[in-house]
Amino acid sequence: MAFPLQGPKLPKLPFSVLIIISILGRSLHASEPPLTLDHYAPTCPGVFEIIKKEMECEVLSDPRNAALIVRLHFHDCFVQGCDGSVLLDDTITLQGEKKASASINSLGGFKIIDRIKNKIESECPGIVSCADILTIAARDAVLLVGEPYWDVPVGRKDSKTASFELAESNIPTADESLLSIITKFLYQGLSVTDLVALSGAHTIGTARCASFRARIYGDFETTSDRSPVSETHLNSLKSMCPATGGGDNNISAMDYVTPNLFDNSFYHLLLKGDGLLNSDQELYSSMLGLETKNLVIKYAHDPVAFFQQFSYSMVKMGNITNPDSFVNGEIRTDCRFINA
Ligand code: HEM
Repeated sequence: MAFPLQGPKLPKLPFSVLIIISILGRSLHASEPPLTLDHYAPTCPGVFEIIKKEMECEVLSDPRNAALIVRLHFHDCFVQGCDGSVLLDDTITLQGEKKASASINSLGGFKIIDRIKNKIESECPGIVSCADILTIAARDAVLLVGEPYWDVPVGRKDSKTASFELAESNIPTADESLLSIITKFLYQGLSVTDLVALSGAHTIGTARCASFRARIYGDFETTSDRSPVSETHLNSLKSMCPATGGGDNNISAMDYVTPNLFDNSFYHLLLKGDGLLNSDQELYSSMLGLETKNLVIKYAHDPVAFFQQFSYSMVKMGNITNPDSFVNGEIRTDCRFINA
């Protein structure tokens, strides 16, 4: 499959230089964030229960809500660390991240976080950060649509800033090269193994036609095993996502076998060559992705290994911290705005 050595958004530097930049970049993030499991035990002991109950209602009313929250957490952590910056609305004095190209018209779940925050504020005002709420809600979301469970260290603070520019540059996109995506993960202190495991989140949720048009009119047929099921699936994708444009916001499940279940079926689809996003299929089909390919095979054959690694990598992603937030951050009263 065609595989550009450098994605369009990377500076034109040799790979070795990019890796050095990535490693240096890691020092931007504190390696041992001051997060603990019992941070709220003395001040808001009911916080985990409140979030769990709210998430139960939200996911019961629509399983897609689980996917929205998991993705929102990812977009939060990749920009200034997990500090609730993604939740901030645009104001006259602050440009938020919601209109960045990877997020506009596709990121959701903000109202769910608002509802949870309101409940928590009425129990323990001014105590629990929006960043922590989002991190815990993402864990509950996964558990509610399948497995696995993991403990969530807490104690994050909310930022008083957001970065549209970092949202544009740090969040990987579907048509970016594997090398470029690996570089973005390394920059956050996340490994190739974290990348392959966390991509397994695409076992739930949907993508818009705009995100997979290049794939279905590109090399889908080359990677696919062309089984009757795959052929039928590709035809139905093409009928709702025309090559000539239009229908950009039409959606399709990324895992068409078990769209609402958190399982390892996503990796089976990659083995069949039926990944919906270019970036996902590259994990298995790219000629430069030997390590990623082996991990895809491993997680397809060993769901327990996938669940273990996914839990570990979610905690690691959730621990990407913004050192500045720990000094200058706050507990926002309203997740959409910094405190007056
Ligand atoms: C590895 C690089 C990644 C790329 C290139 C990527 C890209 C995308 C794209 C293009 C979509 C569809 C957006 C749309 O069309 O509306 C999507 C959806 C989603 N992503 Fe990722 N993603 C990546 C990693 C992650 C990670 C690390 C997570 C979480 C751990 C995640 C969770 C999700 C979820 C749950 C959805 C479905 C959201 C929904 O149903 O609205 N993604 N991703």
